[in-house]
Amino acid sequence: MKKLLFQLDTDPLPSAFDTVVAYDGGADRVIPYGNVAPDNVEAIVDGAIFTRSPKKKKNTAIFIGGSELAAGERLLDVVQKRFFADFRVSVMLDSNGSNTTAAAAVALLCRAKSVADKRVVVLAGTGPVGQRAALYLTREGARVLLTSRSLARAEQACELLATRYGADVTPTQVSDEQSMRAGLDGAEIVFAAGAAGVQLLSETQWQQHSTIEMLADVNATPPLGIEGIDMMDKGAERHNKLTFGAIGLGTLKLRLHRTCVAKLFTDQNQLFDAETIYAVAKSLLEEA
Ligand SMILES: NC(=O)c1ccc[n+]([C@@H]2O[C@H](COP(=O)([O-])OP(=O)(O)OC[C@H]3O[C@@H](n4cnc5c(N)ncnc54)[C@H](OP(=O)(O)O)[C@@H]3O)[C@@H](O)[C@H]2O)c1
Repeated sequence: MKKLLFQLDTDPLPSAFDTVVAYDGGADRVIPYGNVAPDNVEAIVDGAIFTRSPKKKKNTAIFIGGSELAAGERLLDVVQKRFFADFRVSVMLDSNGSNTTAAAAVALLCRAKSVADKRVVVLAGTGPVGQRAALYLTREGARVLLTSRSLARAEQACELLATRYGADVTPTQVSDEQSMRAGLDGAEIVFAAGAAGVQLLSETQWQQHSTIEMLADVNATPPLGIEGIDMMDKGAERHNKLTFGAIGLGTLKLRLHRTCVAKLFTDQNQLFDAETIYAVAKSLLEEA
């Protein structure tokens, strides 16, 4: 029986990245749908849950992606509500690679050094990856600040994290050199989560910084989010600080993404969401 993965994307064009990784994770056939929303998803879910016998349902699974994290979370809620009794299949949520990217990055940071009680600044943390990184860092006991060019957007992201996950993250506006200096005051870890090709921090802003111990950047598109680190860095030492670049982190991200897809087909009850994907990231590092 073929392993089918329904790739439900909240954006008009389903992500090619997610399609490729779905095949590499072991799906025999990936069926991408775009513009999936709470008001049109139920027929797809019904098609997935009513077609195969209970023993064979593990060969059907659902993947939720798209660039808007809150939309993906709403879709996950509706999909799960549609399930009942044995009429269910395994599901993974990874809007814009947010769970797998942030989980891999935070797990690698924590393996290098404990982040418990550290002051962590998630720069441009309003996107999917930044919001997830902020969540995982709070779970590890860090004191987390999430920045945006707009205080209102930072507040909205922190409110979402508090409402859904009970996470306590401090919103901060960083929109120029002066507010960046204030935001980084006392920072011990910097996590750059800005959009592709946007430099957030120059080398001079961090090389002499007296409290920063580690920096991570998930942007692999030049210019990098943090000037002066290399995208291949995976705990490199620069200016007496440990640095992590997007490709250095990306190897574990891809392995994690593929592993979770593979696990979807082990039984019909798997759920890979923010918390479970982070647990898998940590277990992959323990095995290594
Ligand atoms: N390494 C990997 O394996 C991997 C996997 C997935 C994604 N990524 C990368 O991870 C990063 C974050 O992804 P994402 O989807 O969360 O990002 P995103 O939503 O595209 O952007 C994150 C934030 O960047 C800020 N931003 C946008 N343009 C800016 C500008 N010109 N100047 C300053 N800030 C700006 C915005 O914050 P405000 O408007 O609130 O200021 C935005 O919310 C991206 O670089 C992406 O390419 C890496």
